[in-house]
Amino acid sequence: MATNLSHQWMPFTDNREFQRAPQLFVRAEGVRYWTAEGRELLDGSSGLFCCAAGHGRTEIAEAVCKQLLTLDFTPHFQRASPLSFELAERLSELLPQGLNKLFFTNSGSESVDSAMKIALAYHRARGQAQRTRFVSREWAYHGVNFGGVALSGMMRNRQAFATGGLPHVSHMRHTWQAEQRYQLGEPSQGADLADDLERIIATHGADSIAACFVEPIAGSIGVYVPPAGYLKRLRDICNRHGILLVFDEVITGFGRTGEAFAAQSFAVKPDIITMAKALTNGAIPMGAVAVDESIYDAVVTSSQGQGPELFHGYTYSGHPAACAAALASLDIYRDEDLFGRGRQLAPYFMESLSALRGLPQVSDLRGYGLLSGIQLAPGATPGAKGAQVQRALYDAGLHVKTTGDAIIFAPALVASRTDVDAMFEVLKSTLSQETF
Ligand SMILES: Cc1ncc(COP(=O)(O)O)c(C=O)c1O
Repeated sequence: MATNLSHQWMPFTDNREFQRAPQLFVRAEGVRYWTAEGRELLDGSSGLFCCAAGHGRTEIAEAVCKQLLTLDFTPHFQRASPLSFELAERLSELLPQGLNKLFFTNSGSESVDSAMKIALAYHRARGQAQRTRFVSREWAYHGVNFGGVALSGMMRNRQAFATGGLPHVSHMRHTWQAEQRYQLGEPSQGADLADDLERIIATHGADSIAACFVEPIAGSIGVYVPPAGYLKRLRDICNRHGILLVFDEVITGFGRTGEAFAAQSFAVKPDIITMAKALTNGAIPMGAVAVDESIYDAVVTSSQGQGPELFHGYTYSGHPAACAAALASLDIYRDEDLFGRGRQLAPYFMESLSALRGLPQVSDLRGYGLLSGIQLAPGATPGAKGAQVQRALYDAGLHVKTTGDAIIFAPALVASRTDVDAMFEVLKSTLSQETF
């Protein structure tokens, strides 16, 4: 029986176009999807940068099933299941040293908004409640809740919602410059763009700023790798002015850059890391905020009052099924050395990526680890080419995420060279077309 498509309002989707030409997946395994018509597609975006270990992992499914039959739900206000503590411990072993306090959420957006509240609570606990301003960057994507929308620098995500009630945010410039075109890895120009933070400080005063949020690699906008030295410079400025540095690692976490977190790949330690997506390999919604112990100590250990130190949390924070999925995912990442495997595949991936240069539809290439952005030659209106190419790739057998006129190509860490070759073949033949 054909699916009735008339009742769901789909997120970030041209709903009328979807009704006209639906793209329905009914099965997934490894690095492949199957459509409702029985067609096989390669997965070039790890679902939505979630499924690092590939689809259909029985270890995760069995762990979730077992957990649901043992303890399906427990509130995490005042009481908890041991699993969430076990997961927090496992994550703190993967995170940069000191980021060993974990707050659980259900998504990347919730992680970002939670991190904003934690930053405010930290300054308040230290007698600096006037630090309420945030700094982020043009072109940033920090999810869709109101805090994250205020931080974000993507016009379409803001314009319908950015009312006067949003938190105060100053945006630094994005880090792309024309000279960086076709430079894979960290571009050599642009570290000085970090000094935008100094300019914002000079305008608003350091003592009004709570935290600076950046994606170490700006992912959703189309993969912009930070210029060499840029993140370190941000770190130094934050240190000098008592501003917390937050890395939003919702996409870059869990091996995407060759290490567990991009903070380790770029050797810059933030005060807070937000994560989601590959935390559970995409199997169950879950996010987390990793907090430096000094922040936790300021808010929790040094608290003078009675009762909860942070009036914030979600019904499903630390959900047992999500914890089981996350623990099983971490086991896979460890047992299969997936971060190492991604690191080994990265040079081959970058080499294959650079071979797309010169194709009629390609105007720039960017990438780091197993995360790449393919900029398309502009179409009639911004985003039109991206939508056409996304559809053409779907029809040709490759699932990828596009944003505007950029393809975000990020295969699973389990992808083999043969899988990657097959994905590049589809890209090559589609992007070779002179017109769309
Ligand atoms: C850097 C970053 N932050 C936050 C989010 C929001 O995550 P979610 O869609 O799980 O709310 C995303 C989603 O892609 C993201 O890339």
